[in-house]
Amino acid sequence: QPESYASLVDADQGIVSREVFVNQEVFEQEIARIFARAWLFVGHESLIPNPDDYFVSRMGMDSVILTRDRQGNIHVLLNSCMHRGMKLCRHDQGNARALTCPYHGWSYSTDGQLVETPGELVGVPGLATHYHGQLDKKAWGLVRCPNVVNYKGTIWASWDKEAPPFLDYLGDMKFYLDAALDHRDGREGGSEVFGGVQKWRVKCNWKFAPENFIGDMYHDISHRSVDLVGIGPSAGKGRRDASRRRMTIGFPGLGHGLLGQLPHTAEDDYVPLYTKHPEVEAYFREVHAARVRNLGDRMRVQTSVGTIFPNMSFHGRQPRTIAVFHPIGPTEMEMWRFYLVDKDAPQAVKDATRHYYLRYSGPAGMTESDDLENWSYATEASKAPLARQHAYNYQMGLGHAQPIKDLRGAVQSGDVSEENQRIFYSRWADFMTGKSWADLIPG
Ligand code: FES
Repeated sequence: QPESYASLVDADQGIVSREVFVNQEVFEQEIARIFARAWLFVGHESLIPNPDDYFVSRMGMDSVILTRDRQGNIHVLLNSCMHRGMKLCRHDQGNARALTCPYHGWSYSTDGQLVETPGELVGVPGLATHYHGQLDKKAWGLVRCPNVVNYKGTIWASWDKEAPPFLDYLGDMKFYLDAALDHRDGREGGSEVFGGVQKWRVKCNWKFAPENFIGDMYHDISHRSVDLVGIGPSAGKGRRDASRRRMTIGFPGLGHGLLGQLPHTAEDDYVPLYTKHPEVEAYFREVHAARVRNLGDRMRVQTSVGTIFPNMSFHGRQPRTIAVFHPIGPTEMEMWRFYLVDKDAPQAVKDATRHYYLRYSGPAGMTESDDLENWSYATEASKAPLARQHAYNYQMGLGHAQPIKDLRGAVQSGDVSEENQRIFYSRWADFMTGKSWADLIPG
């Protein structure tokens, strides 16, 4: 029953049942109650720059095709043939004039010159003979996601026809997401996904990742070796570099949150990151100065890392990345990393950034592999019958969050707090109890 799902989370007391992380029934209800309704990140426009390009993505357990039609519009279609369900696109991405099923050959089109509805069935082998001309092709087009939005190059989709506009769902978290999506100098847009998308499976519950990226500074001990080697964004000063003041900012009632950092706000306040590469160093010094000039008040907090409920996270500073956590089962997820660069950056900058990404993030990156190990061991240990009877503790900083002026409903906590995790699981309970959109996003 919906109430029983709500009882698994006590955000006021900072208690979350382990059933939330290991239970098959809870997992199936998450797919129905969260992933079938919420706005989900499905990809980036730079992955499908040309007509008929496609990129295969996921929404919850469903495979979907992100595709650009010949008129330049982007659509999200269910990746399953309407005849016998065959997966239409089996490659991760590509270009196809029509989507033709490899099983019996039905084909579908998004070309607005040919069809009224994107994904319409246009080709059926044996239509005149085997079907005697009696198949209603218009009724058997691919299932099309009703809500698709392109926000500064990122593509978001929701299956729920009643879903509110994406920007209402995002709220003032928009301000911080922009840090990842805008040009490094603060101008709007201008980023592209660099190289391929890294994908890998992890034997952990999918929520371990977004609750970490929503602002878990407490797990610094996990990354001590990275600090000692000096390859992180603090250039060897350690992740707790005392010259950088951090805070967590959360959005109760939306489920989003971030770890922010008070920035260096003067043009000559630049912190060198690439001292061995003068061209790269000069580029980042110049974009820092332009950022200070262009952003003004928006420089007040920079996003280190943040989460958009339910399963998208991002790094807003160097390195700028998007991560998405696809549920596979209660104790398994598939993690995808998209790396962002300025489209107009010099090649030397793109190369240096790529090397940085490879050694820092992804399944072989030094930081990511630390986290993956924690999440898998925690999930494994929580599955056992005795262990799963004992709830997790989210009580750090309970009752110490402060409202933030100028940001609708946002609260701020110190740099190490579990306020944002409580906000995340409170939102999880809102969706699991099946609240209406009027209650989920009050006007
Ligand atoms: Fe696609 Fe038969 S399953 S044409």
